[in-house]
Amino acid sequence: MVLPNHGANPHYFVNALGLQLKEDSIDFSENVNPLGVPKAVLQKWGEYGQTIHTYPDPYASKLREKIALQNNVSIDQLLIGNGAAELILLIANHFRKKKILIVEPTFSEYRDACLAYECEVIRFQLFQYDNWHANVEGLFEAMTEVDAMFLCHPNNPTGTILDQTILLRLIQRANENDVTVIIDEAFYDFSDADISILPDIKDFQNVILLRSLTKMYAIPSLRLGYLISNSEIVNKLKKFQQPWSVNGIAQQVGLECISDEQHTIRTRSFIRSERKWLYHVLSQLGYEVSPSVVNFYLLKPKGSNDDLKPLIIYLIENGIVPRHTYNFLGLDGKYIRLAIKTRAENDMLLNVLERWAQQ
Ligand SMILES: Cc1ncc(COP(=O)(O)O)c(C=O)c1O
Repeated sequence: MVLPNHGANPHYFVNALGLQLKEDSIDFSENVNPLGVPKAVLQKWGEYGQTIHTYPDPYASKLREKIALQNNVSIDQLLIGNGAAELILLIANHFRKKKILIVEPTFSEYRDACLAYECEVIRFQLFQYDNWHANVEGLFEAMTEVDAMFLCHPNNPTGTILDQTILLRLIQRANENDVTVIIDEAFYDFSDADISILPDIKDFQNVILLRSLTKMYAIPSLRLGYLISNSEIVNKLKKFQQPWSVNGIAQQVGLECISDEQHTIRTRSFIRSERKWLYHVLSQLGYEVSPSVVNFYLLKPKGSNDDLKPLIIYLIENGIVPRHTYNFLGLDGKYIRLAIKTRAENDMLLNVLERWAQQ
């Protein structure tokens, strides 16, 4: 019999004793203020106010069950995190002091997390930016002598994906070389095509699939993400995670979000048509964009190889804040990254970019 190490979440304790928790039980194992949360909080947060006065489920079981069901994986293959960012840190901790390949240009947290855990980081620049050709052969070579590799797919900041057969070959080769592949699908659900690698990787033991709920459901402040891998890796990573890392509101809101399938369908369709329209207008205005499949893209004036600081300043002076690319390997400020927003907001952006192009 394994008893929980903490009070609160009484059903885990009661069930471990082989008993059933009575519906109206009073939880004397949890030492929080019996007078509850301050009134102002209750008034403001309504139903969620009831959620915060008790400890969150440390295993996020309901959310895990639902995500497992939706993705057709078993519950012990899933770990919920306080944002995908927390899971990246857990993974880096797992590979502490090991040799890690990062496919660049990409999300800088992989590198920061790996360096924090004293990994030896090898950066591989995948693209030629003049034609977006991916140096796949170079990548195959680079990954043979590492312990793990991070691949963001679709990639931040380019919004691009690899061909599915290439990706599978890569995972296969990594498997043969004992390399764990961490595939970050934080933005996969913004694409209208089925680009997730999940259905094809269930038999591989060397893959960790990362996902975020903060992008699609616009809840970055709540922090919610998950990973799917084999149960052995999941158990190891869970040990590094601080207890109750995923708060109760995040768990509750997460359940509500993933139950709203229409939201994702509507979003994908909106992003697809908006991106198509934006790309058409931007090309007419004299801009080049990355071949993105999601809700952001890289942009530069056609043929430009300049530092785009003057454009960044112009945009900011006109009420548009772009993402700079100075900290992305090989981009070095020669592109800016732009999100796809509402039609009205995209129109404002195009207006300013049109004026800049006409200068
Ligand atoms: C590629 C990628 N992965 C993970 C994250 C972190 O996501 P979360 O908000 O779930 O921590 C981000 C955030 O920008 C991201 O761009």
